Amino acid sequence: MTVTIVGSQLGDEGKGGVVDLYGDAADVVARYQGGDNAGHTVVHDGEKYKLSLVPSGAVRGKIGVLGNGCVVNPETLFDEIDTLRERGLEPDVRVSERAHVILPYHRALDGIEEEEKEDLAAGTTKRGIGPTYEDKAGRRGVRVGDLLDPDTLRERLEYVVPQKKALAEEVFDKETGEEFDIDHLYETYREYGERLAEEGMTVDCGTFLQNRIDAGDNVMLEGAQGTSLDIDHGVYPYVTSSNPTAGGATVGTGLGPTVIGDGEVIGIVKAYLSRVGTGPLPTELGGVEGQTPDYDAADGAGDGAGADEEALATAIRDEGGEYGTVTGRPRRVGWLDMPMLRHAARANGFTGLAVNHIDVLSGLDTVEVGHSYEFDGEEIFTMPPTTEQWGRCEATFKSFDGWPDVDWTAVAEDGYEAIPENARTYLEYISDELDAPIYAVGVGPGREETVVVENPYE
Ligand code: IMP
Repeated sequence: MTVTIVGSQLGDEGKGGVVDLYGDAADVVARYQGGDNAGHTVVHDGEKYKLSLVPSGAVRGKIGVLGNGCVVNPETLFDEIDTLRERGLEPDVRVSERAHVILPYHRALDGIEEEEKEDLAAGTTKRGIGPTYEDKAGRRGVRVGDLLDPDTLRERLEYVVPQKKALAEEVFDKETGEEFDIDHLYETYREYGERLAEEGMTVDCGTFLQNRIDAGDNVMLEGAQGTSLDIDHGVYPYVTSSNPTAGGATVGTGLGPTVIGDGEVIGIVKAYLSRVGTGPLPTELGGVEGQTPDYDAADGAGDGAGADEEALATAIRDEGGEYGTVTGRPRRVGWLDMPMLRHAARANGFTGLAVNHIDVLSGLDTVEVGHSYEFDGEEIFTMPPTTEQWGRCEATFKSFDGWPDVDWTAVAEDGYEAIPENARTYLEYISDELDAPIYAVGVGPGREETVVVENPYE
């Protein structure tokens, strides 16, 4: 069977921990979208591994698959594999021949366009994700299978590279180097193709996964980013360029929708909200200069709440470690946004929920939740379709009594009933509103600090 793991908010919900937790019972862990924009840390036998492309299951001896919906930077792929090998692991990673390849000009153009866009910039990771998906849709991309076939690779590069070079030089007025040089790209990427072939890493993803399922294997489909970063269902244009939602799991692997639908789809919810990058955020607390629109330190998130809110935001940010893993820059934080979650529950069809980080909110007198929005004088319960409309939404809050800080490791051992009562009330509200049962509750950063209510593979 399959278990699909989907972020229900704006990424960084703690999906890695859940993949880790349930991944023990999985034989294969496949990613279905995104590329090396998905930084995560895996702790195994006391060792920390930082990965951004290779599925985390590969650290634990599972087969890791990058599906056709992924965009693959071979340089990152082999760097991560080599690092894991140097540390004594034997990662088994397979890559779909249908997946598109991130080339150096995609990375260069990602940076160039972000600069040019100014207010419309999504604050991308500058890994070339958007430009690669653009070329996929424009039918001028290079696929992993093309790297194994030098004549096709050469033909594709000869068509596309002059266009990219002209775009950089003539439209954006930038100097270009070897990242736009056909011969250099051809030699480098042909060699990557040779290595992929030598190591037998390429697969026809849908067939590979279906064969494993037919043989009785458990397959986990690991979504990166989150529903509100989805190119179709997210807060466009402040989104990534792929479909993290559960529908992406079928298109991005080649497994049929009925196969995915026969399994479980677990929504990962962070008990509050965090956001990297710009765009509206109706439940935001305080603000972060350069990311919160019209940010004014004296005025909090533009609502006049000022210093108290700023202090609360800082406390949650510090407690939850809400600072970028690579850049160290503070993430924006806010209360839970229920209209965002109702939208996610519908778009993904969650069969279960894992709610993370309830320990981060402990010790507060009250915990607020954005229950609905006031939008142009009306109360609405889900996100409106455009981001401009979302920016006009004012959250209507519901208050919950806070819960104490307790020995969360003991809570994780003792089970759901050991969670402080007020926190359970909060969890049950989320479950009722989203019409999905709680499968797991994250009560701390460690793998063992999770209350497991249900194991989807059992
Ligand atoms: P891109 O995916 O690099 O094109 O970035 C597009 C948007 O998605 C930006 O706002 C990024 O900050 C955001 N984003 C991409 N990957 C992640 C992630 O793994 N966690 C949180 N935000 C992400």
